Amino acid sequence: MHPFPAVDPIPLPAPIWLLKLLHIVTLALHFVAVEMLLGGLLLAVLLSLFRGSPLSMVAARALARRLTVVMTYVINLGVPPLLFAQVLYGRALYTSSVLIGVYWISIIAILMLAYWLLYQFSGRLEVGKSAWWVGLIAWLLAGSIARLLSTNMTLMLRPEVWREMYSASAMGAYLPTGDPTLTPRWLLMMAGGLFIVYLAGRSTFTADEKRFVAGLGGKVAAVFGLVYLTAGLWAASVQPAVVKSLLVTPPAGYEFYKYFGFAGYGWLALVAVAILLAAIAGFGRITARWMSIAVVHLAVLIEIAFTVYRDGVRDLTLLSKGYNVWDRAVVTNWWVVGLFLVLFVAGLGVIGWLVSVMARAKKVMEAA
Ligand code: HEM
Repeated sequence: MHPFPAVDPIPLPAPIWLLKLLHIVTLALHFVAVEMLLGGLLLAVLLSLFRGSPLSMVAARALARRLTVVMTYVINLGVPPLLFAQVLYGRALYTSSVLIGVYWISIIAILMLAYWLLYQFSGRLEVGKSAWWVGLIAWLLAGSIARLLSTNMTLMLRPEVWREMYSASAMGAYLPTGDPTLTPRWLLMMAGGLFIVYLAGRSTFTADEKRFVAGLGGKVAAVFGLVYLTAGLWAASVQPAVVKSLLVTPPAGYEFYKYFGFAGYGWLALVAVAILLAAIAGFGRITARWMSIAVVHLAVLIEIAFTVYRDGVRDLTLLSKGYNVWDRAVVTNWWVVGLFLVLFVAGLGVIGWLVSVMARAKKVMEAA
């Protein structure tokens, strides 16, 4: 029997390529924010635990202050891809979400607790109280959200286990294990390090602080980069043989998926450059502005390449199991699509203006 629920008879209101494009762009930005949050928080916790010098506390505070803001980006940049994913992959994603329903819904409560703890962490650091354990709990909670998201995003690709899971628990209280891609996918998101290299170029640090942040941050980012690289290679190597082969030789009519496979090589090259740059920043204690600009661009490009490759893996995995994302009725409502795009561009313009206002604002030194 076909494992996927029947397709919704309501046609899609926009071309599939457009929905996929918007999905990939917004999801890549969500991943940039997630890497900043999880990597930045881990480093801030370590810095506040091993209070090596006053400089390490300045760096921990600088990171913690920003993490509450980063969290708003994690959440707001998570909503659009969730909507696009539901439109494109609803029959798979809704099923897997229901199967782990208790855990899936608990993300909201875990998220609120983690967010509150981030403020507590930052507040305690500001007044010189012991804070590392608060940050550590927030990191563990955020990491468990990441684990639940990875669990759902891999479960949606395994219709063959759905029936057995539903028999084990119709309440949605059963977490699946046994998917070899789960742990490396999760690990990939836990090891973002470029945020601290970016911070070293901020003019709100004194020259001494900058050198400390660049030296320590660069070395940590290089190590995190190696973990990220290993997790990525691990995740790719444990994909089912059919998916690996479809990425190289896609079925007739879907030749463009070759480029999704190439994105994996692009990702590899970009990550290698990022690790090299981080090591240069770390060992050379480079605090130049070009380094900050370079790592911001690299982080965005890395996540775009990663998301494109990941999207190819998802589509081809589903295709091998009888779910074709392109096989949907589309009746485009161009007025609505046009209005959406106008508002989207206007929204980007407003955000750009807000960022420029922030950039022109009077600087407050980090140690103040
Ligand atoms: C602390 C908060 C969060 C963390 C740490 C986090 C982490 C992650 C991770 C690790 C993944 C990748 C899963 C994988 O493919 O293996 C992911 C995917 C995703 N996240 Fe988040 N996330 C957070 C909050 C949110 C929120 C609040 C939303 C939405 C409101 C969201 C929406 C999504 C979506 C839609 C995807 C996958 C979409 C797709 O595959 O098409 N996330 N997130």
